[in-house]
Amino acid sequence: MTKTRLGKSDLPVPRLGVGAMTWGDPTGLARLNPAKLAYGGAHGFDEEKRALEASLAAGVTLFDTAAMYSNGASERRLGELARGQDVLVATKFPPSPFSRTEAMPQALDASLARLGRNSVDLYQHHFPSNRVAIPKLMDLMADAVEAGKVKAVGVSNYSAEQMRIAHAALARRGIPLASNQVEYSLLHRQLEVNGVLDACRELGITLIAYQPLASGALTGKYVTGARPTGFRRFMPYFRRNSLEAVRPVVNLLREIGESYDKTPAQVALRWLIENESVLPIPGAKNGKQAADNAGALSFSLTAAEIEALDQATLAWRA
Ligand SMILES: NC(=O)c1ccc[n+]([C@@H]2O[C@H](COP(=O)([O-])OP(=O)(O)OC[C@H]3O[C@@H](n4cnc5c(N)ncnc54)[C@H](OP(=O)(O)O)[C@@H]3O)[C@@H](O)[C@H]2O)c1
Repeated sequence: MTKTRLGKSDLPVPRLGVGAMTWGDPTGLARLNPAKLAYGGAHGFDEEKRALEASLAAGVTLFDTAAMYSNGASERRLGELARGQDVLVATKFPPSPFSRTEAMPQALDASLARLGRNSVDLYQHHFPSNRVAIPKLMDLMADAVEAGKVKAVGVSNYSAEQMRIAHAALARRGIPLASNQVEYSLLHRQLEVNGVLDACRELGITLIAYQPLASGALTGKYVTGARPTGFRRFMPYFRRNSLEAVRPVVNLLREIGESYDKTPAQVALRWLIENESVLPIPGAKNGKQAADNAGALSFSLTAAEIEALDQATLAWRA
């Protein structure tokens, strides 16, 4: 399995990870977690265990969660499943949209307790907010690195300008900003033109691509079959006219995949992996999906195929 370093950090990571946003069984109000409502109900311990095992068997050892996912239930489940396994854990601050900068050290300790670990491999700021001052937060992140609680520091949903502020604040403490986790797929390409991808390349920061399958739209199953259940059917990709626009993209993914015996999902993920700055983290609900996604690592696209996919999805770059 090819490994790379996460940005300029010392953390060796695979070229693909797994998103665990929908994992875990939330209780109380956390049942109303938007991800669960959007993606359908709990898949349960056994399915999620199979997803983790299938990923590890393929060398996909990086798992992404967040304090906010189902109010900690995702972290708890990942911690439970990963115990005793050689797993890299990425999680995120804050636990609530109302958390302030100063809440970080306590929130990190709470995440570590839910994960059952002494340290996390990657700790990310989930999204910019006017309650969190980026330079001050990065100082607290640096303190956590020095205390051995965090191995690498990342951000998420940051603009190019916000990345530069975080990068500079960490650099003052001699720590690299390892990653920016943002939405990126064939159906969401704005970061190619808004400066984020350029800033990642310039600063040596890995772009972690979330929703790399466009929430499942790029797998092709919703173009040919039923629309998804849950809130997802109201998300932009799944409106009827949007799915019509996605159909030619799925057809191209299928056509390209046929010569490699690969699925549309695998080709869509491979298109991202072909860019060495990018590390996709597809969500997987079960062992079958996890194994399928990991299959993106075992082939390559030609320059002509990459170009054909680029051209077919230009409308999603604007
Ligand atoms: N930082 C942020 O703000 C942020 C925001 C969103 C997500 N994320 C991260 O990104 C991760 C992935 O995003 P996502 O789960 O929203 O979107 P995604 O990876 O684009 O789509 C995942 C969904 O697609 C379907 N699927 C996955 N693999 C498949 C396969 N091989 N074949 C067929 N269907 C497959 C599954 O749903 P169905 O089977 O129900 O179709 C799965 O839940 C999350 O888990 C989370 O870690 C981060």
